[in-house]
Amino acid sequence: MRIDIVSIFPDYFAPLDISLLGKARRRGLIEVHVHDLRQWTHDRHRTVDDTPYGGGPGMVMKPDPWGEALDAIAPGGQSADAAPRLIVPTPSGRPFTQAMAVELAAEPWLIFACGRYEGIDSRVVEEARTRMRVDEVSIGDYVLAGGEVAVLVIVEAVGRLVPGVLGNADSVADDSFAPGSMENLLEGPVYTKPPVWRGRAVPEVLLSGHHAAIARWRRDQALRRTAANRPDLIAALDPARLDERDRQV
Ligand code: ADE
Repeated sequence: MRIDIVSIFPDYFAPLDISLLGKARRRGLIEVHVHDLRQWTHDRHRTVDDTPYGGGPGMVMKPDPWGEALDAIAPGGQSADAAPRLIVPTPSGRPFTQAMAVELAAEPWLIFACGRYEGIDSRVVEEARTRMRVDEVSIGDYVLAGGEVAVLVIVEAVGRLVPGVLGNADSVADDSFAPGSMENLLEGPVYTKPPVWRGRAVPEVLLSGHHAAIARWRRDQALRRTAANRPDLIAALDPARLDERDRQV
């Protein structure tokens, strides 16, 4: 997968060199290019923003540098199966979900446009849509100072799903929000050695070697945690997919 990121703060993306994604880059599974938007400015002050039409507080990112950046990074001419998809993080976007991460992990090429201030002149997205798929995406109902941290979040969530990036493919299947038997439940508690720590014992069933009992216990725990932390997810469960034991939890 190829990832291009355009930002006025390229240094924000240093973490992409470390840990899981850093290793994936070194192994050639993910290719990341970070671009400084100001390279597509032409004035002495390398201006990227201006006052908003219609008035109001703050500044808006000018369309010119963005248009040139997208032209330079994705000049077009790719076949449909190699075409880029543009992701614009904004609190006004569609909510980013695990399902969207799975979808994006199958793309060959993602371009991220990091807005700052009050956002990017809307004509940039409008025009980009005429030549590529564009998604405006929000990572949650809060306002960050810019798109950079949102891009780190999205790239990490997507990158770990790219085939070969995780050592143990099973770890994806158990994730909270992962498609499968525990779909739409939060992951329950986990334990490792020692069996007793500060007087607290690991739940006995986990040491029993009884796989069906362990699976049942994990589902109970997942249901409890989901009910406590995300009652909205419990309300949305398909009753047809709950068994008698689920209802007792
Ligand atoms: N930029 C500022 N806030 C954001 C959010 N919540 N999600 C995505 N991009 C953002």
